[in-house]
Amino acid sequence: MRKVITYGTFDLFHKGHLSLLTRAKALGDYLIVGVTTDHFDEARGKVNVVDSVMERIESVKKTGLADEIIIEDHEGQKIEDIEKYQIDVFTVGSDWVGTFDYLKPFCEVVYLDRTPDVSSTMLRERRFKIVKMGIVGTGRIAPRFLSESKYVSGINIICAYNPEKESGRAFEEQHEIETFHEDYEGFLDKVDGVYIAAPNETHYEYAKKALLKGKHVLCEKPIAFTKKETMELYELAGEKGVVLYEAIKTAYCPGFQQMMNMAKSGKIGQIHDVEACFSRLAAPMSRERTDAKYGGAFLEFAAYNMLPIFKLLGTDYKEVRIDSIYGEGGIDLYTKVQFVYENAMATAKCGVGVKSEGQLVIAGTEGYILAESPWWLTKKFQIRYEDADKVDTYEPRFQGDGLRYEISGFVSKINGIEHVGYRLTEREAEAMAEVTELFMKQRKAKRECLNLE
Ligand code: CTP
Repeated sequence: MRKVITYGTFDLFHKGHLSLLTRAKALGDYLIVGVTTDHFDEARGKVNVVDSVMERIESVKKTGLADEIIIEDHEGQKIEDIEKYQIDVFTVGSDWVGTFDYLKPFCEVVYLDRTPDVSSTMLRERRFKIVKMGIVGTGRIAPRFLSESKYVSGINIICAYNPEKESGRAFEEQHEIETFHEDYEGFLDKVDGVYIAAPNETHYEYAKKALLKGKHVLCEKPIAFTKKETMELYELAGEKGVVLYEAIKTAYCPGFQQMMNMAKSGKIGQIHDVEACFSRLAAPMSRERTDAKYGGAFLEFAAYNMLPIFKLLGTDYKEVRIDSIYGEGGIDLYTKVQFVYENAMATAKCGVGVKSEGQLVIAGTEGYILAESPWWLTKKFQIRYEDADKVDTYEPRFQGDGLRYEISGFVSKINGIEHVGYRLTEREAEAMAEVTELFMKQRKAKRECLNLE
């Protein structure tokens, strides 16, 4: 019996797939089809696959051509499979010519002509309108956003906005992207959505104007400084039927979601304490350390720290207390937020002028989860127990610098793909805004005390 194997994503199953499978089957007597997992596709940079792995398997099954369907979930698996299933022929489409020649010592390798003029990418683009995006603010994060968005299909960054002419121009030249200076409305007219990465105090106004014009908004945290303004923006997005996402990238990282799910699964028993810390010493002249009104440790890092706290313990805390170490000019160099719940407690520590261990510890009745720095990307975490020898280590997938997951979530939400839901709920965003408002009041009072306001 001649055994043939082929692999693919088979998203939005099309005639090219059918033709390939038909010809693959004809190469032998028994056809094995490997369907990629979502994880594996993401690892290869395909982050916008529409059909779930179960749906894609079902599409292959329906053809009646596959004698066996297997899952492909890691690099290097092809050789393992060829040996395990004693494969005679490996085949894929001609778009891969040469790529799999390394399998020749193990079996025959056949590249079948690719069916012209059809691909999953084309179908995805046809089905979902490409989202035309504009970037507001051309500072440090904008180039990262540009490069990470290239890994997400269905989004095109077409222009930018920066009222400061000089830096806007430099960005325009370096990235060859049209940059508006004065005319925010004109900029908005060009796009379907905006990514707001401008200074903190401008977020609310930029977001509001964009939402009023019916544009989708992905906004860096904090979207506003008060609960009222935050909720106003969410309501506005609801009225206009557009997506408003707060860009807390941790919420969209696959590892973070896995860690939250493991914590909630009861593996460490009941959770009674969450301690999160994020600190980065900012340069003395940086905005974070000099802008006493809108810079500082809390605004820089508190959202990341509050995220696992609210995800795991909820937003109905009984008390919250905020303490800061203030530097010259009344900026918070270090801020600690402590929450008291009915049956739990939590701490969020943020630093731009004080350095501490950046880690997340989730303490339960049976054990604890430890995620070391950079836990906010969650590339690795451990579950530890009383018995120090018993340690479960998880190293979830993670590509690039994390932004692509948030961008992909945003695009999927716009396209109404429901299996990618809001990772940060409206209630969580509201609760974050409540704490932010309290912090802003406290810092203002401190500055008034120092006669700085
Ligand atoms: N294939 C083909 N003809 C096409 C499209 C795909 O023969 N027009 C083949 C590929 O070469 C591969 C298999 O079908 O052997 C599965 O391909 P997959 O990557 O799932 O499909 P694409 O349409 O190429 O997907 P994408 O656009 O996401 O890359």
